[in-house]
Amino acid sequence: MGKINCIGILTSGGDSPGMNAAIRSVTRTAICKGFRVKGIYRGYEGLVNDEIKEFTTESVSNIIGRGGTILKTARSKSFMTPEGRKKAYDILQQEGIDALVVIGGNGSITGAHIFATEFDVPCIGLPGTIDNDLYGTDLTIGYDTTLNTIVECVDKIRDTANSHERIFFVEVMGRDAGFLAQYSAIASGAEAAIIPEDDTDADQLEHFIGRGIRKSKNSSIVIVSESPKCGAMFYADRVKKEYPQYDVRVSILGHVQRGGSPSARDRILASRLGAGVIDAILDGQRNVMIGIRHDQVVYVPFSDAVRSDKAMDKSLIKVLDELSI
Ligand code: F6P
Repeated sequence: MGKINCIGILTSGGDSPGMNAAIRSVTRTAICKGFRVKGIYRGYEGLVNDEIKEFTTESVSNIIGRGGTILKTARSKSFMTPEGRKKAYDILQQEGIDALVVIGGNGSITGAHIFATEFDVPCIGLPGTIDNDLYGTDLTIGYDTTLNTIVECVDKIRDTANSHERIFFVEVMGRDAGFLAQYSAIASGAEAAIIPEDDTDADQLEHFIGRGIRKSKNSSIVIVSESPKCGAMFYADRVKKEYPQYDVRVSILGHVQRGGSPSARDRILASRLGAGVIDAILDGQRNVMIGIRHDQVVYVPFSDAVRSDKAMDKSLIKVLDELSI
């Protein structure tokens, strides 16, 4: 493997608050340590299409507090094909980029993993996703900000739920993981969370609702993790049928959850992990994602990072249940 002089950086998949802080950290740490940096626009799609610009320290000025990603992002179809990845490799050669840094979620790290097995290009990943579903890291960049956004929204919904004595089903993002739903339910004092990691069925749901609204409360909030088959609408319809006496509403928070200025925690996480990328490169690490475990920066092999079984602490289900009596 040749010497690394120039590092390419891209953001890919769904954006997350803190991606800019990560771009800034990688860029500035790299330049500090004597590397050149090139920004690759629009994720893997921009790599295949050679949308690449030399970065200086000024390229990342005043972005630490901005949501979204200055590099833009995309879910590239062409990079999923062997021809697309070959083209990406040729562009990297042509641009003189010796190592690739990918900031993104599960799909993006999977892309880097496949690419690194096909071509001799050192790839380093950074966990950038609101879903917190990457294995081997306690936190992903953007998760904390999104959690706070959800809690802020649910606090507002609580006001109107109370005034009207209604049951609200609030749908949150998370793809196949329930971290956002479970943690936001605890933080917002919701009566229940419906998450893919738990086999909450309609009976259990009715138990929550019945208990909450009959016993001591005049309103209820249930946080539902998004799902194509049984999202908030599905559960709301079931409760409407079983309890026609209750006034039920649905609120799907949608993409408001992905925007906004990153929290201090996300900015610090992104800054630490971004610096970790350059340490990893200097350390001779290849094809790993930089994660955080027990507040220590760690290297997670790509094959682990993309595992789909990141565990949720099941004791949190009991915590929520007991706190919502
Ligand atoms: O992975 C991030 C995420 O926001 C998921 O929580 C959600 O399922 C998905 O992306 C939505 O993607 P899009 O913005 O393409 O609709």
